Formats: sequence, structure tokens, C-alpha cells
Amino acid sequence: MARPPRAAASLPQHRLSVVVLGLLLFRAAAKAQLSGDSYYDASCPAALLTIRTVVSAAVLLDPRMGASLLRLHFHDCFVQGCDASVLLDDTGNFTGEKGAGPNAGSLRGFEVVDNAKMLLETLCPQTVSCADILAVAARDAVVQLGGPSWAVQLGRRDSTTASASLANSDLPSPSSTLATLLTAFSNKGLTTTDMVALSGAHTIGRAQCANFRDRIYNDTDIDASFAASLRAGCPQSGDGSSLAPLDESSPDGFDNGYFGGLLSGRGLLHSDQALFAGGGGGSTDGLVRSYAASNGQFSGDFASAMVKMGGISPLTGTAGEVRVNCRAVN
Ligand code: HEM
Ligand SMILES: *[C@@H]1O[C@H](CO)[C@@H](O)[C@H](O)[C@H]1NC(C)=O
Ligand SMILES: *[C@@H]1O[C@H](CO)[C@@H](O)[C@H](O)[C@H]1NC(C)=O
Repeated sequence: MARPPRAAASLPQHRLSVVVLGLLLFRAAAKAQLSGDSYYDASCPAALLTIRTVVSAAVLLDPRMGASLLRLHFHDCFVQGCDASVLLDDTGNFTGEKGAGPNAGSLRGFEVVDNAKMLLETLCPQTVSCADILAVAARDAVVQLGGPSWAVQLGRRDSTTASASLANSDLPSPSSTLATLLTAFSNKGLTTTDMVALSGAHTIGRAQCANFRDRIYNDTDIDASFAASLRAGCPQSGDGSSLAPLDESSPDGFDNGYFGGLLSGRGLLHSDQALFAGGGGGSTDGLVRSYAASNGQFSGDFASAMVKMGGISPLTGTAGEVRVNCRAVN
């Protein structure tokens, strides 16, 4: 093993290197770093294969589950960082994030995570964190539905806390404007390009009527026949639980079809269509056009942005814990 560099401190004439080294050490301490994708190779060699097998079975049975797993990772990372806080169940004296507005009656996939965790606890007890399971499952789900792959950075640990109020404040709403979306993502260290690319996650999955009824009854920037066909299944008031695909062109295929839909006013959520104003209007119109034209460009930017999103404020080293049960603190 290489020894840590310590020469700089004993060479007072190199004051600049001392300052630089100090800054580097400070950065490392201030910003927890994930390890590479080989983090479990020694401690739990079958970890990644185990997660992939569980995800694969679940997505074969229900393709939408791939979308639900991808969304779980997003809702984890945007609230206190990627620390599996989203997975904690409410108890008598603890309120988690599952009942928060953006999550309640909407998040899915907890059982799939439980299945992976159960197998992993048998293979290598208290070794693979729930936060890492979410990150790997999201990647595997995207790959299985035809999307790009990327090396998932690992070494996240699990929180002992959760925050319903941060879930309500930090997860963007489907009624968001472009400015609101850009702020929400920039608050997490993500750029405009990251935001637009990550929104392409809506190339898979479904949304409930309650989340798009305002758009199909009130928005003026929606394709008329698209709105009419959606109104048939989504009443103006009352039960808002009926589902529609976020990307009607290929609901379970991970591709750039979502962006093509935006070009023709067929974004399902108000926040989707906010990315493309058309008529030379919006600051992200150019990116949407590029992604609609090039699945390769979208895939590359999406993969990079997923790695960045997966690196939001992780707990590493001895911070947090590795939960035995993803739904409860140890
Ligand atoms: C840009 C801001 C975003 C907003 C406002 C937003 C909002 C929503 C809403 C309202 C739904 C439908 C939930 C329901 O009706 O039950 C949804 C679904 C979904 N979202 Fe997002 N989302 C955003 C970004 C993202 C990101 C960054 C990802 C992942 C990288 C993502 C992945 C998904 C997926 C895959 C679904 C479908 C889930 C399923 O079918 O179970 N979203 N989103
Ligand atoms: C909640 O209650 C359980 C058992 O009733 C206890 O073990 C735990 O420490 C309590 N948690 C908090 C945060 O008070
Ligand atoms: C449409 O907008 C009106 C006026 O703001 C509002 O009262 C109504 O609830 C909206 N309709 C839907 C379906 O959201």
C-alpha cells in the first residue's frame, strides 16, 4: 500500500504546497467521496450480480418497476443526499419521508429493494448499504429497459434520520416552471444540462391523473388531440389515480422519445413541457432539440448526470450505518 504523502509539512520553504495540500485535505474532509465501482469486490463479490438478478426478475414481471426504481434513487438523493432516507418507514415515534407530498401514494419498488437486501444480508451481513442498492438498481433498471449503462460509484452508507419537510421542499413539483426546476437542481450542484438530461428519465414510467390534470385541462401549450385523449381517462375533479405514460411514444423503452414529445407539445407534466417553449423562447430549447435528434448525446449526458446525482452528499467512512433492514435504523 502507498504511504500517505507527508513530506510537504516538513519542507517550510514549500509553503505554497503546504497550502495546496491543506486545501486538498480540507476538500476531502468537507466533501465525502464515494469509492469506485469495485468497492464490494472483496467484501461481497456477488453484491452487484445479486442486485441485478433481483431487479431483472422484477422488471420482467412488471416493466414499470424499472421506472419506479429509478425514481426511488432520485427521491433518495434529493433529500439529505443519497443515504436511503427515503426507505425508512414511519413508526410510532418517527416520521419518515414516505408520507411527504411528492412520495405518498406514488413511490413504488420498496419490496424489490427488500428482496435484494434480504439476499445480501444472507450472503454478506451488514456490508452492502441500502443507499448503494438504490444506486445500482437504478442503473440496472435503465439498462434493462434499453438505456445507457454507467459505472456506479459505491461506498454510500445509510442514514439514521429522514426528513419529511426536506422531501416536501427539495423535490420539484410537476407544476414547476423552468426557473423553479433550474433552481431546485442547482441547489443540489446539478447544471442546466444535468437537469434536462435527468428529466429524460421520464422516457419511462407513468404518472397519475392528479399530477397532470391541470395541464390537460388548463395549459395552452399542449397539443390539442393529445390533451383530448388524456381527458378521456382523467376527470377534471374526483378520482385522480388513473395512469398515463410519461412518454407515450415508448412507455417502457429508455430512449430519447420523451424529447421528441416535448417538441410537439406532448409533454405529460407541466414541468416536462417547461423544458421546451418552442418559437425560440426557452433557454433549454436547444438542449431538448439536441436530445430529440441524438439518442447518443442524450444517453451520454444522462449517464454522466446520474453519476453526479448519485454523488449528492453521501455518508461515507464511519458516518451513518449499513442498515440490516432498509426500512428501519439498526
Ligand atoms: C425535473 C423535475 C421532476 C419532476 C417535477 C418530476 C415529477 C414526477 C411526477 C409528478 C411523477 C409521477 C408520479 C405519480 O403520478 O405517481 C414522476 C414520475 C417519474 N419520475 Fe419524475 N420528476 C422529475 C425529475 C425526475 C428525475 C430527475 C428522475 C430520475 C432520474 C425521475 C424519474 C421518474 C420516473 C422514472 C417516474 C415514473 C415512476 C413510475 O412509473 O413509477 N423524475 N416524476
Ligand atoms: C422509538 O421507540 C423505540 C422503541 O419504542 C426506541 O427503541 C427508539 O429509540 C425510539 N426512537 C426515538 C428516535 O426516540
Ligand atoms: C384550471 O384552472 C382553474 C383556474 O385557476 C382552477 O380553478 C381549476 O382547478 C384548474 N383545473 C384543473 C383541472 O386543475
